[in-house]
Amino acid sequence: MNLEKLLVDVKEIAYNAGELIKNPQTIEVFSKSGKHNYVTQMDKKISDYLLSQLPLILPGSVVLSEEGEDRNTADTSLVWIVDPIDGTTNYMYHFRLSAISIALMKDGKAVLAVVYNPFINEMYWAAKDAGAYLNGETINVGNDESINHTLVLAETDPYSNRASNHTFLWLNQLFQSCIDIRITGSAALDFCYIAAGRAGAFLTPQLDPWDMAAGYLIMAEAGGIATHFDGSPLLFSGSETAIAGNPQIYHELLDFFNKESLAIILM
Ligand code: IPD
Ligand code: CA
Ligand code: CA
Repeated sequence: MNLEKLLVDVKEIAYNAGELIKNPQTIEVFSKSGKHNYVTQMDKKISDYLLSQLPLILPGSVVLSEEGEDRNTADTSLVWIVDPIDGTTNYMYHFRLSAISIALMKDGKAVLAVVYNPFINEMYWAAKDAGAYLNGETINVGNDESINHTLVLAETDPYSNRASNHTFLWLNQLFQSCIDIRITGSAALDFCYIAAGRAGAFLTPQLDPWDMAAGYLIMAEAGGIATHFDGSPLLFSGSETAIAGNPQIYHELLDFFNKESLAIILM
């Protein structure tokens, strides 16, 4: 499998999807299950586009899309995990902070990734062992040495109140020491921002595979580390917690969750 050649095709597919997203006639919003969990006609349109295009550039591969109906990926080792729009709520509010997220998994491990925010023309990509890039420039995680001296990114599990007490407790504790906290509304972009050194730490109580498979590889190729709150590896196979950062800050976050005995929930 030639990852370099595949990347060219995936970037073009992401770019085309971005052109659709940027120019909606209207945004039609539908409710999904959960609290304030919405999907637009554009999520579905992009999902259909990715479902039709990605298998064409890699015969034998199947696509797992957040908005797709068929989630059976058992029969192949090559699975695209895609989020047609990560940051749908931002999209509904014209917040310009949403991305198309595409990861190729081989035997359960991410080997290629593209995350594209068409509103500000930022395309992040990575291939296994080949580094991470933003619009063609190499990116690396930042060199902040501790949570005390960094910007923290967080997500909140917005579609359920299940984790909110814990999440805001952790954030309150981190807020006492860090520079500041940002909640972007796009986990895929959070990982990319850690990769590009735009923030030093990221934590979230709940993500699905499509929220993080691509962003994870980009961050890892940029020198970052991400795991569950308890230090076990991300699996990209269901609902998962995540902490991420450069190696130093990642270990500090891990200590934070161990010390506070907070990792016990939501695993
Ligand atoms: C959501 C975003 C958000 C995160 C949620 C995700 P969506 O994805 O990544 O940042 O907090 O957990 O579900 O619904 O916009 O694709
Ligand atoms: Ca998502
Ligand atoms: Ca989505």
